Amino acid sequence: MVINPSVAELKKSATLKITALTKKLVAEGKDVVNFAAGEPDFDTPDFIKEAGKAAIDAGFTKYTPSAGLPDLRKAIASKLQSENNISLEGKNVIVTAGAKYALYVALFTLLKPGDEVIIPSPYWVSYPQMAKLCQAKPVFCETDEKDGFKLSGKKLQECITSKSKVLILNYPSNPTGATYDRKELEEICRVVKDNNLYVVSDEIYETLLYDGRQHTSFAALGGAFNNTITVNGFSKTFSMTGWRLGYLAGPDEIIGETSKIIDHTTSCACAVSQKAAIAALGDNKWQGQVKDIFAARRDRLWKGLDPLEKITPFKSQGTFYMFSDIRKTNLNSFDFSQRLLSEKLVSCIPADAFGKDGFIRLSFSTSDEQIDKGIERIKDFLSSL
Ligand SMILES: Cc1ncc(COP(=O)(O)O)c(C=O)c1O
Repeated sequence: MVINPSVAELKKSATLKITALTKKLVAEGKDVVNFAAGEPDFDTPDFIKEAGKAAIDAGFTKYTPSAGLPDLRKAIASKLQSENNISLEGKNVIVTAGAKYALYVALFTLLKPGDEVIIPSPYWVSYPQMAKLCQAKPVFCETDEKDGFKLSGKKLQECITSKSKVLILNYPSNPTGATYDRKELEEICRVVKDNNLYVVSDEIYETLLYDGRQHTSFAALGGAFNNTITVNGFSKTFSMTGWRLGYLAGPDEIIGETSKIIDHTTSCACAVSQKAAIAALGDNKWQGQVKDIFAARRDRLWKGLDPLEKITPFKSQGTFYMFSDIRKTNLNSFDFSQRLLSEKLVSCIPADAFGKDGFIRLSFSTSDEQIDKGIERIKDFLSSL
């Protein structure tokens, strides 16, 4: 066979597929309500764009050191210290072309063929595929609405075998919007330490937490730092998805090895984006404003859907996604999403892509008017079934 089996077996990203289809319908002039978006609907803030433009004008258009600009690594380290209580230095941070690549690099650094990667389910689409690219085996640890779609120490213990190496945590979670408090994380951490697992902690939605919730980084828990790679980025927090900028941070012995992969794959993240990211980290207003807007939208969507009979929305604790149970319609996730799009022009993501058939993911990264229109169309659709 010509193609490497690890690549041939990969599934295309369902979320990117539906996003592309939605964009195509919009470009054709169709009045689609887009509940499929995986990115903030806001433009990148002006002060960040200006920093990017200034970098281009100053000729800052060449390779940077492969692990990232020293000033940016330092700025990320001080953010992780002051906001996340993780004590580290710039040398513990590697800047990457997006958090997605940071995740891949983190997994590739830790995994050897045959290792098992524990992934709480529902999960973000790319985790199992990335594990497979590393020739490791994804092991799904099921969670459901009864436990708020959260892993517990007990559940984690049940998924551990002699081959378990890495646990991927993502909170607040895409797709469920669930998050963990410190006590819940400490319980998971005890099991992690007892079994000498490594944690890749994807905290990319950390600033989008509602109802006064506070984010606790896994690496900040007692004794967790040496076994944790923290992944984060600028896409969601600063509406910078197209700038492709993320990072990973962790102990010297892991990060030193990881940087070799960057040396031989991407060389470095985009120089202009790195300058823009330094400006982004200097901000203290934008994140709060965005969070308030998303919190109001979450309430609006939830209040619109909750009274409907055949759909049960799970009230997100964070992110801009609302995970919703559609099993009472007797349709599977895919048929529900296809029909909702073709009959009512509302796009959403079928949650079989996240390992949970019978559910859909609705994104409230859109305006109040669109949310209201979408709720009306979903109402019509459900009553037509
Ligand atoms: C859970 C999660 N992790 C990582 C990413 C990747 O973000 P980036 O744009 O920085 O690659 C996404 C993007 O959708 C995500 O939802």
